[in-house]
Amino acid sequence: MMSSLFDPLQLGALHLPNRVVMAPLTRARAGRDAVPTPIMAEYYAQRASAGLIISEATGISREGLGWPNAPGLWNEAQVEGWKPVTDAVHRAGGRIVAQLWHMGRLVHPDLGETTPISSSAITAPGDAHTYEGKKPYVEPKAATAEDIHRIVLDYARAARNAISAGFDGVQIHGANGYLVDQFLRNGANLRGDRYGGWIDNRMRFMDEVISAVGTEIGMSRVGIRFSPNILVQGVEDTNPIALFTAVAQRLEQLQVPWIELREAHQPTSAGSIPTEPVSPSMRPHYSGKILLNSDYDGPSARARLAEGIADGISFGRPFISNPDLVHRIAVGAPLANGDESTFYSGGVEGYLDYPRLEEAQAA
Ligand SMILES: Cc1cc2nc3c(=O)[nH]c(=O)nc-3n(C[C@H](O)[C@H](O)[C@H](O)COP(=O)(O)O)c2cc1C
Repeated sequence: MMSSLFDPLQLGALHLPNRVVMAPLTRARAGRDAVPTPIMAEYYAQRASAGLIISEATGISREGLGWPNAPGLWNEAQVEGWKPVTDAVHRAGGRIVAQLWHMGRLVHPDLGETTPISSSAITAPGDAHTYEGKKPYVEPKAATAEDIHRIVLDYARAARNAISAGFDGVQIHGANGYLVDQFLRNGANLRGDRYGGWIDNRMRFMDEVISAVGTEIGMSRVGIRFSPNILVQGVEDTNPIALFTAVAQRLEQLQVPWIELREAHQPTSAGSIPTEPVSPSMRPHYSGKILLNSDYDGPSARARLAEGIADGISFGRPFISNPDLVHRIAVGAPLANGDESTFYSGGVEGYLDYPRLEEAQAA
């Protein structure tokens, strides 16, 4: 029998009361020290009716975080800053996992405080975000074996910190052209050692990160996100179907309980023309749960679930402007549009002030 968006879903140790998941959304409301601020607790608590909240991307280290006012999870002050956030979500009846982020070559040294690191010394196209506006990306250093070892330990520490901060688990950010993606895809990874070349080698970094995080907090609390069929921030692959089919097999071996795929079907939010969806090729090799994302509303999410590949759907922008998205989808209410100018603007405007349906109707 086909499941509905409102059936419960088990993602490893996490029990979701529904399958409407909040996708990770960078909102740039943390301090310069990457410590979460009190408004973040209210923002996430407003959205606690989601089956699961995946937090905004959260830096695992100073070197890995290149987005102004994004939060981190590498020190005690950041752990303390997250505690009121996870607590507010739990008190509102929700669940929240931390998206663990290393941006690799997309970190400008102004923020990372050192030469950025990637799989290979290839400069990303375009400009980095800094506190002084956009600046061209700089050439990264190709990670040495010691660098890789250190970064893997940084992921494990961030996962441990996430649990200390009250998160219910973590999602490793393997999408959107960041470090894990920079190792996975042959457009960014030109290494000739055991971390480059054949697919098995390109998956090694991901494998080590997942294994370290799983050992640290238990694999039942670990998920991972990919964006397999789009070109993002200069990272692409000549054969995404072969790569991500192998990834699905590896995740099955590692017993990772869930995957979220930003799998675009149209060029709108992806920034490039998407290639063929990969989830149909991954599904037969992976017995865990698959969440699909990108450009869904209630009816299209229901239709996608009915195809039998996805176990749940994650929503990004709709959750920015509809804190009660689950309720709106349930009753078939129209969805409010968000104001892009406040996505990363800081402050409460465009952050805490999107009304719930009944508030909007009363106004
Ligand atoms: C403002 C904004 C911030 C985002 N931040 C993140 C992020 O921190 N991590 C991530 O993996 N994706 C991020 N994304 C991508 C979204 O999670 C999602 O994949 C994308 O918006 C497409 O889904 P949607 O059509 O439901 O919005 C962001 C997107 C937007 C619009």
